[in-house]
Amino acid sequence: EQIKKGSYDHFMQKEIHEQPHSLKTTMRGRLKDGGVLLGGLKEYLKTIRRCRRVVFIGCGTSYNAALAARPFVEELTGIPVTMEVASDLLDRQGPIYREDTAVFVSQSGETADTLMALDYALENGALCVGITNTVGSTLSRKTHCGVHINAGCEIGVASTKAYTSQIVAMAMMALAIGSDQISTQARRETIISGLTNLSSNVSEVLKLDVEMKELASSLIDSESLLVFGRGYNYATALEGALKVKEVALMHSEGMLAGEMKHGPLALVDENLPIIVIATRDACFSKQQSVIQQLLSRKGRLIVMCSRGDASAVCPSGSCRVIEVPQVADCLQPVINIIPLQLLAYHLTVLRGFDVDQPRNLAKSVTTQ
Ligand code: AGP
Repeated sequence: EQIKKGSYDHFMQKEIHEQPHSLKTTMRGRLKDGGVLLGGLKEYLKTIRRCRRVVFIGCGTSYNAALAARPFVEELTGIPVTMEVASDLLDRQGPIYREDTAVFVSQSGETADTLMALDYALENGALCVGITNTVGSTLSRKTHCGVHINAGCEIGVASTKAYTSQIVAMAMMALAIGSDQISTQARRETIISGLTNLSSNVSEVLKLDVEMKELASSLIDSESLLVFGRGYNYATALEGALKVKEVALMHSEGMLAGEMKHGPLALVDENLPIIVIATRDACFSKQQSVIQQLLSRKGRLIVMCSRGDASAVCPSGSCRVIEVPQVADCLQPVINIIPLQLLAYHLTVLRGFDVDQPRNLAKSVTTQ
Protein backbone atom coordinates (compact mmCIF):
# COMPACT_ATOMS: atom_id res chain seq x y z
CA GLU A 1 0.00 0.00 0.00
CA GLN A 2 2.84 2.38 0.95
CA ILE A 3 4.38 1.83 -2.50
CA LYS A 4 1.14 2.73 -4.23
CA LYS A 5 0.96 5.93 -2.19
CA GLY A 6 4.48 6.80 -3.32
CA SER A 7 5.73 9.84 -1.45
CA TYR A 8 2.24 10.77 -0.21
CA ASP A 9 0.78 10.05 3.22
CA HIS A 10 -2.72 9.31 1.98
CA PHE A 11 -4.47 8.23 -1.21
CA MET A 12 -6.70 11.29 -1.14
CA GLN A 13 -3.61 13.52 -1.08
CA LYS A 14 -2.00 11.53 -3.91
CA GLU A 15 -5.17 11.67 -6.00
CA ILE A 16 -5.53 15.44 -5.52
CA HIS A 17 -1.95 15.97 -6.70
CA GLU A 18 -2.37 13.55 -9.61
CA GLN A 19 -4.94 15.79 -11.30
CA PRO A 20 -2.66 17.44 -13.87
CA HIS A 21 -1.94 13.91 -15.11
CA SER A 22 -5.43 12.39 -14.74
CA LEU A 23 -6.96 15.26 -16.71
CA LYS A 24 -4.46 14.66 -19.50
CA THR A 25 -5.43 11.00 -19.68
CA THR A 26 -9.12 11.98 -19.77
CA MET A 27 -8.43 14.11 -22.85
CA ARG A 28 -5.76 11.95 -24.48
CA GLY A 29 -6.52 11.22 -28.15
CA ARG A 30 -9.89 12.97 -27.90
CA LEU A 31 -9.06 16.58 -28.89
CA LYS A 32 -8.35 16.26 -32.58
CA ASP A 33 -8.04 18.79 -35.42
CA GLY A 34 -9.72 21.55 -33.44
CA GLY A 35 -12.66 19.29 -32.54
CA VAL A 36 -13.56 16.47 -30.16
CA LEU A 37 -13.61 12.79 -30.97
CA LEU A 38 -15.47 10.52 -28.54
CA GLY A 39 -15.58 7.00 -29.96
CA GLY A 40 -18.17 5.81 -27.43
CA LEU A 41 -20.71 8.45 -28.49
CA LYS A 42 -20.04 8.78 -32.22
CA GLU A 43 -22.92 6.60 -33.40
CA TYR A 44 -25.41 8.29 -31.06
CA LEU A 45 -24.70 12.01 -31.57
CA LYS A 46 -27.53 12.47 -34.09
CA THR A 47 -30.07 10.86 -31.76
CA ILE A 48 -28.87 12.97 -28.82
CA ARG A 49 -29.15 16.17 -30.90
CA ARG A 50 -32.80 15.37 -31.59
CA CYS A 51 -33.75 14.56 -27.97
CA ARG A 52 -36.30 16.59 -26.06
CA ARG A 53 -34.09 17.05 -22.98
CA VAL A 54 -30.99 15.77 -21.26
CA VAL A 55 -31.52 14.39 -17.75
CA PHE A 56 -28.39 14.13 -15.59
CA ILE A 57 -28.59 11.43 -12.92
CA GLY A 58 -26.06 10.61 -10.19
CA CYS A 59 -25.30 10.68 -6.47
CA GLY A 60 -22.89 12.67 -4.28
CA THR A 61 -19.81 13.97 -6.05
CA SER A 62 -20.91 12.52 -9.38
CA TYR A 63 -24.17 14.47 -9.13
CA ASN A 64 -22.15 17.61 -8.35
CA ALA A 65 -19.97 17.04 -11.43
CA ALA A 66 -23.11 16.82 -13.56
CA LEU A 67 -24.39 20.03 -11.97
CA ALA A 68 -21.11 21.73 -12.95
CA ALA A 69 -21.64 20.47 -16.51
CA ARG A 70 -25.25 21.57 -16.80
CA PRO A 71 -24.67 25.22 -17.83
CA PHE A 72 -22.23 24.41 -20.63
CA VAL A 73 -24.27 21.47 -21.90
CA GLU A 74 -27.28 23.80 -22.20
CA GLU A 75 -25.17 26.52 -23.78
CA LEU A 76 -23.36 24.37 -26.34
CA THR A 77 -26.23 22.08 -27.31
CA GLY A 78 -29.33 24.24 -26.81
CA ILE A 79 -31.02 21.21 -25.23
CA PRO A 80 -32.80 21.76 -21.87
CA VAL A 81 -31.05 19.93 -19.01
CA THR A 82 -32.71 18.73 -15.82
CA MET A 83 -30.94 17.32 -12.77
CA GLU A 84 -31.91 14.22 -10.80
CA VAL A 85 -30.40 12.79 -7.63
CA ALA A 86 -30.81 9.07 -8.39
CA SER A 87 -32.56 8.15 -5.13
CA ASP A 88 -34.99 11.07 -5.45
CA LEU A 89 -35.90 10.16 -9.03
CA LEU A 90 -36.74 6.65 -7.79
CA ASP A 91 -38.65 7.89 -4.74
CA ARG A 92 -40.82 10.08 -6.96
CA GLN A 93 -40.89 7.71 -9.92
CA GLY A 94 -40.28 10.97 -11.80
CA PRO A 95 -41.15 11.28 -15.49
CA ILE A 96 -38.58 9.91 -17.94
CA TYR A 97 -39.60 9.70 -21.60
CA ARG A 98 -38.38 7.86 -24.67
CA GLU A 99 -37.48 11.25 -26.18
CA ASP A 100 -35.05 11.89 -23.26
CA THR A 101 -31.31 11.37 -23.17
CA ALA A 102 -30.54 10.19 -19.62
CA VAL A 103 -26.88 10.72 -18.69
CA PHE A 104 -25.71 8.61 -15.74
CA VAL A 105 -22.59 9.80 -13.94
CA SER A 106 -20.77 7.43 -11.59
CA GLN A 107 -17.09 7.02 -10.74
CA SER A 108 -17.48 3.37 -9.74
CA GLY A 109 -20.28 2.51 -12.16
CA GLU A 110 -21.67 0.33 -9.35
CA THR A 111 -23.68 2.72 -7.14
CA ALA A 112 -26.98 0.96 -6.37
CA ASP A 113 -29.20 4.07 -6.56
CA THR A 114 -27.71 5.10 -9.89
CA LEU A 115 -28.03 1.60 -11.33
CA MET A 116 -31.67 1.32 -10.23
CA ALA A 117 -32.37 4.70 -11.82
CA LEU A 118 -30.68 3.36 -14.97
CA ASP A 119 -33.00 0.33 -15.02
CA TYR A 120 -35.94 2.70 -14.58
CA ALA A 121 -34.82 4.93 -17.46
CA LEU A 122 -34.24 1.91 -19.70
CA GLU A 123 -37.74 0.64 -18.91
CA ASN A 124 -39.10 4.06 -19.89
CA GLY A 125 -37.32 3.91 -23.24
CA ALA A 126 -34.79 6.76 -22.78
CA LEU A 127 -31.44 6.75 -24.53
CA CYS A 128 -29.01 6.02 -21.68
CA VAL A 129 -25.47 7.42 -21.67
CA GLY A 130 -22.86 6.46 -19.06
CA ILE A 131 -20.02 8.63 -17.78
CA THR A 132 -17.83 6.39 -15.63
CA ASN A 133 -14.27 5.73 -14.52
CA THR A 134 -14.70 1.97 -14.47
CA VAL A 135 -14.40 0.03 -17.69
CA GLY A 136 -16.56 -3.12 -17.55
CA SER A 137 -18.70 -1.76 -14.69
CA THR A 138 -22.43 -2.49 -14.60
CA LEU A 139 -23.08 1.12 -15.66
CA SER A 140 -20.84 0.89 -18.69
CA ARG A 141 -22.36 -2.45 -19.70
CA LYS A 142 -26.01 -1.47 -19.30
CA THR A 143 -25.98 1.99 -20.92
CA HIS A 144 -26.40 2.32 -24.71
CA CYS A 145 -23.25 4.39 -25.09
CA GLY A 146 -20.94 6.59 -23.06
CA VAL A 147 -17.60 8.09 -22.18
CA HIS A 148 -14.97 6.53 -19.93
CA ILE A 149 -13.29 9.29 -17.97
CA ASN A 150 -9.93 7.44 -17.73
CA ALA A 151 -8.90 9.18 -14.50
CA GLY A 152 -7.10 6.07 -13.23
CA CYS A 153 -8.00 4.05 -10.15
CA GLU A 154 -9.38 6.20 -7.32
CA ILE A 155 -8.89 4.66 -3.88
CA GLY A 156 -9.66 7.42 -1.35
CA VAL A 157 -13.32 7.33 -0.34
CA ALA A 158 -13.50 11.05 -1.04
CA SER A 159 -13.70 11.45 -4.79
CA THR A 160 -11.28 14.10 -6.09
CA LYS A 161 -9.59 13.36 -9.40
CA ALA A 162 -12.71 11.59 -10.71
CA TYR A 163 -14.73 14.79 -10.13
CA THR A 164 -12.50 16.96 -12.30
CA SER A 165 -12.23 14.27 -14.98
CA GLN A 166 -16.02 13.85 -15.02
CA ILE A 167 -16.44 17.58 -15.68
CA VAL A 168 -13.88 17.48 -18.49
CA ALA A 169 -15.48 14.36 -20.01
CA MET A 170 -18.86 16.11 -20.00
CA ALA A 171 -17.30 19.25 -21.51
CA MET A 172 -16.02 17.09 -24.36
CA MET A 173 -19.44 15.46 -24.65
CA ALA A 174 -21.13 18.89 -24.89
CA LEU A 175 -18.59 20.00 -27.51
CA ALA A 176 -19.23 16.86 -29.55
CA ILE A 177 -23.04 17.18 -29.37
CA GLY A 178 -22.89 20.88 -30.31
CA SER A 179 -20.28 20.47 -33.02
CA ASP A 180 -22.85 20.95 -35.82
CA GLN A 181 -23.76 24.48 -34.61
CA ILE A 182 -22.12 27.33 -36.48
CA SER A 183 -23.27 30.01 -34.03
CA THR A 184 -21.22 28.52 -31.17
CA GLN A 185 -18.07 27.70 -33.13
CA ALA A 186 -15.94 30.51 -31.66
CA ARG A 187 -17.08 29.57 -28.15
CA ARG A 188 -16.20 25.92 -28.79
CA GLU A 189 -12.73 26.95 -29.96
CA THR A 190 -12.19 28.95 -26.75
CA ILE A 191 -13.23 25.98 -24.63
CA ILE A 192 -11.04 23.55 -26.59
CA SER A 193 -8.06 25.84 -26.14
CA GLY A 194 -8.95 26.07 -22.41
CA LEU A 195 -8.98 22.27 -22.22
CA THR A 196 -5.58 22.11 -23.87
CA ASN A 197 -4.07 24.37 -21.17
CA LEU A 198 -6.10 23.03 -18.27
CA SER A 199 -3.51 20.63 -16.93
CA SER A 200 -0.85 23.31 -16.51
CA ASN A 201 -3.35 25.58 -14.76
CA VAL A 202 -4.19 22.71 -12.40
CA SER A 203 -0.46 22.35 -11.62
CA GLU A 204 -0.45 26.07 -10.81
CA VAL A 205 -3.41 25.93 -8.46
CA LEU A 206 -1.90 22.95 -6.62
CA LYS A 207 0.85 25.33 -5.47
CA LEU A 208 -1.74 26.68 -3.00
CA ASP A 209 -1.19 23.55 -0.89
CA VAL A 210 0.74 25.34 1.89
CA GLU A 211 -1.71 28.24 1.92
CA MET A 212 -4.62 25.80 2.25
CA LYS A 213 -2.87 24.04 5.13
CA GLU A 214 -2.53 27.40 6.91
CA LEU A 215 -6.19 28.16 6.23
CA ALA A 216 -7.11 24.71 7.58
CA SER A 217 -5.22 25.37 10.80
CA SER A 218 -7.19 28.60 11.27
CA LEU A 219 -10.48 26.69 10.83
CA ILE A 220 -9.61 23.61 12.83
CA ASP A 221 -11.95 24.41 15.74
CA SER A 222 -14.85 25.82 13.71
CA GLU A 223 -18.12 23.99 14.12
CA SER A 224 -19.39 24.86 10.70
CA LEU A 225 -18.34 26.21 7.31
CA LEU A 226 -20.51 27.71 4.56
CA VAL A 227 -19.53 27.87 0.90
CA PHE A 228 -21.36 30.29 -1.42
CA GLY A 229 -21.21 29.89 -5.19
CA ARG A 230 -23.42 30.61 -8.19
CA GLY A 231 -23.55 30.03 -11.94
CA TYR A 232 -20.75 27.71 -13.07
CA ASN A 233 -19.55 27.49 -9.47
CA TYR A 234 -22.73 26.56 -7.66
CA ALA A 235 -21.55 22.97 -8.04
CA THR A 236 -18.13 23.95 -6.66
CA ALA A 237 -19.82 25.21 -3.48
CA LEU A 238 -21.77 21.94 -3.05
CA GLU A 239 -18.75 19.77 -3.81
CA GLY A 240 -16.34 21.76 -1.58
CA ALA A 241 -18.81 21.48 1.31
CA LEU A 242 -19.32 17.74 0.65
CA LYS A 243 -15.55 17.16 0.82
CA VAL A 244 -15.26 19.02 4.14
CA LYS A 245 -18.17 17.19 5.75
CA GLU A 246 -17.28 13.69 4.55
CA VAL A 247 -13.60 13.62 5.50
CA ALA A 248 -13.00 16.43 8.01
CA LEU A 249 -16.28 15.57 9.78
CA MET A 250 -17.13 19.26 10.04
CA HIS A 251 -20.62 20.53 9.32
CA SER A 252 -20.47 22.32 6.01
CA GLU A 253 -23.07 23.52 3.52
CA GLY A 254 -22.71 24.62 -0.07
CA MET A 255 -25.23 27.29 -0.97
CA LEU A 256 -26.45 29.14 -3.99
CA ALA A 257 -25.32 32.73 -3.39
CA GLY A 258 -28.51 34.03 -5.01
CA GLU A 259 -30.45 32.39 -2.17
CA MET A 260 -28.39 34.03 0.57
CA LYS A 261 -30.90 36.72 1.44
CA HIS A 262 -33.74 34.20 1.50
CA GLY A 263 -32.57 32.61 4.77
CA PRO A 264 -28.87 31.82 5.18
CA LEU A 265 -28.04 35.49 5.85
CA ALA A 266 -29.48 35.02 9.34
CA LEU A 267 -26.54 32.74 10.20
CA VAL A 268 -23.88 35.35 9.48
CA ASP A 269 -21.78 36.60 12.39
CA GLU A 270 -18.10 37.22 13.13
CA ASN A 271 -17.45 33.56 14.02
CA LEU A 272 -18.95 31.47 11.20
CA PRO A 273 -16.37 31.05 8.41
CA ILE A 274 -17.84 31.59 4.92
CA ILE A 275 -16.05 30.84 1.67
CA VAL A 276 -17.34 32.93 -1.24
CA ILE A 277 -16.37 31.84 -4.75
CA ALA A 278 -15.97 35.00 -6.83
CA THR A 279 -13.79 34.17 -9.82
CA ARG A 280 -14.36 36.16 -13.03
CA ASP A 281 -17.43 35.21 -15.04
CA ALA A 282 -20.82 36.70 -15.88
CA CYS A 283 -21.84 36.51 -12.19
CA PHE A 284 -18.79 38.38 -10.87
CA SER A 285 -20.48 41.68 -10.03
CA LYS A 286 -23.30 39.83 -8.26
CA GLN A 287 -20.72 38.04 -6.12
CA GLN A 288 -19.03 41.38 -5.34
CA SER A 289 -22.32 42.59 -3.98
CA VAL A 290 -22.80 39.36 -1.94
CA ILE A 291 -19.38 39.97 -0.38
CA GLN A 292 -20.35 43.54 0.53
CA GLN A 293 -23.59 42.36 2.12
CA LEU A 294 -21.75 39.71 4.14
CA LEU A 295 -19.06 42.18 5.23
CA SER A 296 -21.66 44.69 6.36
CA ARG A 297 -22.95 41.94 8.71
CA LYS A 298 -19.38 41.38 9.99
CA GLY A 299 -19.06 38.02 8.19
CA ARG A 300 -15.80 36.09 8.53
CA LEU A 301 -14.99 35.78 4.84
CA ILE A 302 -12.60 33.73 2.78
CA VAL A 303 -12.93 34.81 -0.87
CA MET A 304 -11.75 32.76 -3.82
CA CYS A 305 -11.01 35.06 -6.74
CA SER A 306 -9.11 35.17 -10.02
CA ARG A 307 -5.43 36.06 -9.75
CA GLY A 308 -4.93 39.81 -9.34
CA ASP A 309 -8.52 40.43 -8.18
CA ALA A 310 -7.93 40.62 -4.41
CA SER A 311 -8.72 44.32 -4.13
CA ALA A 312 -11.65 44.03 -6.56
CA VAL A 313 -13.35 41.42 -4.35
CA CYS A 314 -12.36 42.85 -1.01
CA PRO A 315 -11.41 46.55 -1.19
CA SER A 316 -11.37 46.87 2.62
CA GLY A 317 -8.72 44.12 2.90
CA SER A 318 -10.75 42.49 5.67
CA CYS A 319 -11.23 39.10 3.95
CA ARG A 320 -8.80 36.26 3.57
CA VAL A 321 -8.27 35.85 -0.19
CA ILE A 322 -7.39 32.74 -2.22
CA GLU A 323 -6.21 33.72 -5.71
CA VAL A 324 -6.52 31.09 -8.44
CA PRO A 325 -5.54 31.02 -12.12
CA GLN A 326 -8.30 32.14 -14.46
CA VAL A 327 -9.38 29.78 -17.25
CA ALA A 328 -12.37 29.67 -19.62
CA ASP A 329 -15.39 30.44 -17.39
CA CYS A 330 -17.10 27.06 -17.87
CA LEU A 331 -13.87 25.18 -17.00
CA GLN A 332 -13.23 27.30 -13.89
CA PRO A 333 -14.99 24.73 -11.63
CA VAL A 334 -12.12 22.32 -12.37
CA ILE A 335 -9.64 24.86 -10.97
CA ASN A 336 -11.80 26.18 -8.13
CA ILE A 337 -12.52 22.84 -6.50
CA ILE A 338 -8.83 22.07 -6.00
CA PRO A 339 -8.12 24.54 -3.13
CA LEU A 340 -11.26 23.19 -1.44
CA GLN A 341 -10.07 19.58 -1.86
CA LEU A 342 -6.74 20.62 -0.31
CA LEU A 343 -8.55 22.43 2.50
CA ALA A 344 -10.68 19.35 3.27
CA TYR A 345 -7.59 17.14 3.22
CA HIS A 346 -5.56 19.33 5.59
CA LEU A 347 -8.51 19.91 7.92
CA THR A 348 -8.93 16.13 8.21
CA VAL A 349 -5.26 15.53 9.02
CA LEU A 350 -5.14 18.42 11.52
CA ARG A 351 -8.35 17.26 13.21
CA GLY A 352 -6.91 13.76 13.47
CA PHE A 353 -9.48 11.87 11.39
CA ASP A 354 -9.03 9.02 8.95
CA VAL A 355 -8.50 10.57 5.52
CA ASP A 356 -8.97 7.57 3.24
CA GLN A 357 -11.65 5.71 5.23
CA PRO A 358 -13.98 8.31 6.78
CA ARG A 359 -16.24 6.81 9.42
CA ASN A 360 -19.51 5.25 8.23
CA LEU A 361 -18.67 5.65 4.52
CA ALA A 362 -17.79 3.20 1.73
CA LYS A 363 -16.11 3.99 -1.58
CA SER A 364 -18.91 2.47 -3.54
CA VAL A 365 -22.45 2.34 -2.11
CA THR A 366 -23.78 -0.88 -3.59
CA THR A 367 -26.86 -1.20 -1.39
CA GLN A 368 -29.95 0.99 -1.36
C1 AGP B 1 -17.59 11.28 -2.95
O1 AGP B 1 -16.57 11.93 -2.29
C2 AGP B 1 -18.44 10.45 -2.13
N1 AGP B 1 -17.69 9.45 -1.47
C3 AGP B 1 -19.76 9.99 -2.72
O2 AGP B 1 -20.59 11.12 -2.70
C4 AGP B 1 -19.78 9.39 -4.14
O3 AGP B 1 -19.48 10.37 -5.08
C5 AGP B 1 -21.16 8.79 -4.42
O4 AGP B 1 -21.39 7.74 -3.53
C6 AGP B 1 -21.31 8.32 -5.84
O5 AGP B 1 -20.38 7.35 -6.17
P1 AGP B 1 -20.14 6.94 -7.68
O6 AGP B 1 -19.57 8.12 -8.36
O7 AGP B 1 -19.19 5.79 -7.61
O8 AGP B 1 -21.46 6.59 -8.23
